[in-house]
Amino acid sequence: MHQEKDKYYLTYNQIHRIIKKLAGQIVDSGFEPDVIVAIGTGGFIPARIIRTFIDRPILTVGLQHYNKANRPQDIPRKVQWIDEVEKKLPGKKVLLVDEVDDTRVTLQYCLTELLRHRPGEMAVAVLHNKRKKKKGQIPPEISRYFVGEELEDRWICYPWDALDIDEQEIRASQVH
Ligand code: G4P
Ligand code: MG
Repeated sequence: MHQEKDKYYLTYNQIHRIIKKLAGQIVDSGFEPDVIVAIGTGGFIPARIIRTFIDRPILTVGLQHYNKANRPQDIPRKVQWIDEVEKKLPGKKVLLVDEVDDTRVTLQYCLTELLRHRPGEMAVAVLHNKRKKKKGQIPPEISRYFVGEELEDRWICYPWDALDIDEQEIRASQVH
């Protein structure tokens, strides 16, 4: 990973390696989820890579904290929230996956909503956690919190947002 001008750049391969380690931590902890819930859209690709190592069905919910003008909204907006997802949660061990723990507002909102459906146990896995003062909190019912990589509070440029993936790779692989 390369950092320049207050940004981090990553390649798909770097992300795959971080997630392999992250999945290893989850397995080693003894937590065996029945179901993976991905928070879209950022959590989609990380959740799919986790499934390569922890083969469980993936359910998805769509939440957006920032609107089209890139302004944070008071509460994250449910872009997609399927009743079927909720029906599958009671009593289950759930692994909630997102790409980044930033302000923690979306995570808190999503965890609180999902907890209303009485999962047996719920854990969180994020590819990155930004070291910063958080606005949201992880509810106390959440038994475990797994992090792929801790980063400083800078903008992370993920490969799935790249308009030019070759440029992304060049930036991500520059040694500093
Ligand atoms: P949190 O609970 O996980 O900390 O999330 P928070 O509410 O702070 O806001 C999360 C939104 O901000 C997500 O997008 C997330 O992808 C985006 N975000 C925060 N920091 C970064 C970063 O460093 N790089 C990138 N690329 N995105 C970041 P969203 O608008 O809620 O939805 P979506 O983009 O996942 O669809
Ligand atoms: Mg986003």
